[in-house]
Amino acid sequence: MPIHHPLTTCSPRFPLHLFEQCNDLSYGDRGTGNAIIHGENLTILKALSQTYRGQVRCIYIDPPYNNQENYTHYRDKLDHDTWLESISASIALLVDFLADEGSLWVSIDDTELHYLKVAIDKIFGRQNFVSTIVWEHRTTRENRKVFSNNHEYILVYAKDARAFKAARNSLGLTLDIQRRYHNPDNDPRGPWQSVSANVQAGHGTASQFYELVSPNGKRHKPPLGRCWVYAKAKMEDEIAHNNIWFGNDGNGAPRIRRFLPEASTGLTPHTLWTANEVGTTTTAKKHLLRLFPNDVVFDTPKPEALLRRIIEIASNPGDLILDAFLGSGTTLAVAHKTDRHYIGIERGPQAVTHAASRLRQVVDRESGGISEEIHWEGGGGFDFYRFQPLASRLQAIKPARFNGGTGRKVARLSTG
Ligand SMILES: C[S@@+](CC[C@H](N)C(=O)[O-])C[C@H]1O[C@@H](n2cnc3c(N)ncnc32)[C@H](O)[C@@H]1O
Repeated sequence: MPIHHPLTTCSPRFPLHLFEQCNDLSYGDRGTGNAIIHGENLTILKALSQTYRGQVRCIYIDPPYNNQENYTHYRDKLDHDTWLESISASIALLVDFLADEGSLWVSIDDTELHYLKVAIDKIFGRQNFVSTIVWEHRTTRENRKVFSNNHEYILVYAKDARAFKAARNSLGLTLDIQRRYHNPDNDPRGPWQSVSANVQAGHGTASQFYELVSPNGKRHKPPLGRCWVYAKAKMEDEIAHNNIWFGNDGNGAPRIRRFLPEASTGLTPHTLWTANEVGTTTTAKKHLLRLFPNDVVFDTPKPEALLRRIIEIASNPGDLILDAFLGSGTTLAVAHKTDRHYIGIERGPQAVTHAASRLRQVVDRESGGISEEIHWEGGGGFDFYRFQPLASRLQAIKPARFNGGTGRKVARLSTG
């Protein structure tokens, strides 16, 4: 059975009085704090802002890019100013949801990238801009265009850049990288690979230029234009501790032994995310076709591997993840499979037809996307809500019953 982590924060209580809880669309374990909310994100974010202030570790949004398309499930056609104003308004609300180490990740293409970057800089402060990731979203050539557009962007912002830097996770070692480690001399410390022991001379100090003597007495000078990575005393200490490798016969140029356990603390994420590593739009559509074989496929889904990378860099099991432009529910599916808590907001009917339906399949051990890689075993659950403030629900209760002539309305709130 998978371990389900409790929410890492003080478990805010969902403001039930503002929402209609839909029992028929909720699934699996109830009251976990996992929520799909059907409605306009601006209204809903305002309604949730008090409860979830400072509670969310990672927000991913994939808003309409304003590329003037009419997709089957939503319209992506606004004038530039209206689009920018509306996205900025959502992001201005989102920033308060973030925990101190929290981060916002925004998918976008180059139609609006640069305008959006300036707008978000104003909200987060330029000092909290972390990076722009390039994602290779297609591998085939688009021959009808002037340039075949094969990549999109992900803007990364931190609530507080320093706190995020200290808290963000490294990437796990890929199988490819693990294969580079061997143990030709049965070193008791385990598999290792050798890396260069010299660096560019321009970056060195006088203490790094010397003649090095190997254990068999052979003398080595750094190659032209290079110096040793360590000063002499440190290098001698490293040689004494068998941390420098001189080749199988002891006569080779000195190289540093780097051990797998040391390296397995992980890799610094780079900014170029290839199709090979995190999938493409086509990968995502194929997965959706398996999930919904009888439906018109959602036009712009993201692959689960892409969301997995974001969520694993930005959060830990038990943390809360938020997506305010949910679409087919990729973010929530990955959050669920990787044992995070989540809130997703979607205004279109795809909140029901795609997101809720997909999450039901996830609870029931759906095997696509990242399931196999992470050995997903199913379980957990979520609640489905519609935004409906108390006042409008009371109004909807007709005819009103009156309490023994006191004139007070008596109404029972429906919870589903
Ligand atoms: C690009 S899609 C998201 C796709 C998603 N990442 C996935 O993997 O399926 C954008 C979604 O945002 C929704 N959306 C746009 N404006 C919204 C708003 N103001 N409130 C809530 N949802 C909105 C659209 O209906 C659409 O489903």
